[in-house]
Amino acid sequence: MLGNFSYCNLTKLYFGDESLDYLNTELPKYGKNVVLIYGGGSIKKNGIYDAVVKILKDNDKNVAEIAGVMPNPTVDKLYEGVEIARGHQADLLLAVGGGSVCDYAKAVSVSVNCDEDPWEKYYLRFEEPDCETLPVGCVLTMVGTGSEMNAGAVITNPKTKQKIGHVFADEKIMPKFAILNPKYTLTLPHYQMVAGIYDIFNHICEQYFSGEDDNTSDYISEGLMRSVIHASRSANENPQDYEARSNLMWAATWALNTLVSRGKSTDWMVHMLGQSVGAYTDATHGMTLAAVFLPYYRHILPYGVQKFKRFAVNVWDVNPEGKTDEQIAGEGLAAMESWMKELGLIMNISELGATEDMIEGIADGTLIMPGGYKVLDREEIVNILKECL
Ligand code: NZQ
Ligand code: ZN
Repeated sequence: MLGNFSYCNLTKLYFGDESLDYLNTELPKYGKNVVLIYGGGSIKKNGIYDAVVKILKDNDKNVAEIAGVMPNPTVDKLYEGVEIARGHQADLLLAVGGGSVCDYAKAVSVSVNCDEDPWEKYYLRFEEPDCETLPVGCVLTMVGTGSEMNAGAVITNPKTKQKIGHVFADEKIMPKFAILNPKYTLTLPHYQMVAGIYDIFNHICEQYFSGEDDNTSDYISEGLMRSVIHASRSANENPQDYEARSNLMWAATWALNTLVSRGKSTDWMVHMLGQSVGAYTDATHGMTLAAVFLPYYRHILPYGVQKFKRFAVNVWDVNPEGKTDEQIAGEGLAAMESWMKELGLIMNISELGATEDMIEGIADGTLIMPGGYKVLDREEIVNILKECL
């Protein structure tokens, strides 16, 4: 490893099918006023809401709710939640849901005591909070984003068609605790399960496909990717396979809690392309990534052949004998493509609702990140997006 870095993660994790009990350990650490934040109602159908509310009552908490946090939470919903949290004088924001709900809670946390417009401050100007923030706790019900153990919060502005993620610099924005019960993920629809699986895999790729030094982070990433591939096949065959779902949950957390990015410049262009597609279509996050990865990776492969070759051999067990580096690298991508088809992922942006006349706008909304094997220009972005149709 050649980089200079620091590493700190402040989230305490409780993992396993009995992990919700530990909410009883965490709640006494915070004041009386809790804001319970959740999505469109899945937690009411599967019983998680009742279980959490009982523990809140047992701990004598005074609870207000922010319900209806949508997938890809919007800036208007953020303003609404800030008012509720202010009115309740919240001591703790308890997010119960997937990445959207966890991200949203973090966005409320940095906005409650902020005098300025949080969209402009945090998402357009990318500033850091200079006010008091609120602690966030998380009970995770959907696996993929890693939001349960990182300081990222993605917010969408449907009016300006911008979907922007801010990874806050200060670790104190990370959830103070996260409860990871793999059983909670068993009620996810197949579409969400596989979208989450690809999100995990792509997070690892975004960090892996950068740099040329011999880096421990890459070896950890390869192990995580092999585990995700193995568990995804078991979960796809039998979605009620607890062991597979539990490995996916754990891998998702480690894929994006800053560990495997240490010492790496990191790429993130699949996410930048996918997020801009998401701003135009409101499609499921993991699917937007699956729909753009192949044209992008084929485009950058010539600039990072050695890494794509290593990926093919170490992650996909491609036999290198008698083949050129380019052939081996290409076979790795082909193996990844067939795994994605096996899972039933959507692999073009048309099926997600994108049309040719949106391409220029999607390209305008794609932030260019400089850390990968090739820094794209606008024309390359437009060409890649056209191929994704
Ligand atoms: O809203 P409800 O009714 O709860 O339904 C949700 C939602 O429709 C449903 N769901 C969640 N848990 C369930 C369940 N349905 C049945 N049983 C359960 N146990 O699943 C749907 C999707 O949920 P959502 O939270 O939107 O999914 P995800 O976890 O993929 O989060 C996506 C958001 O996270 C952002 C994305 O951009 C997107 O806005 N990301 C956050 C990141 C971070 N913080 O680091 C990184 C990621 O790359 C990503 O950008
Ligand atoms: Zn993602």
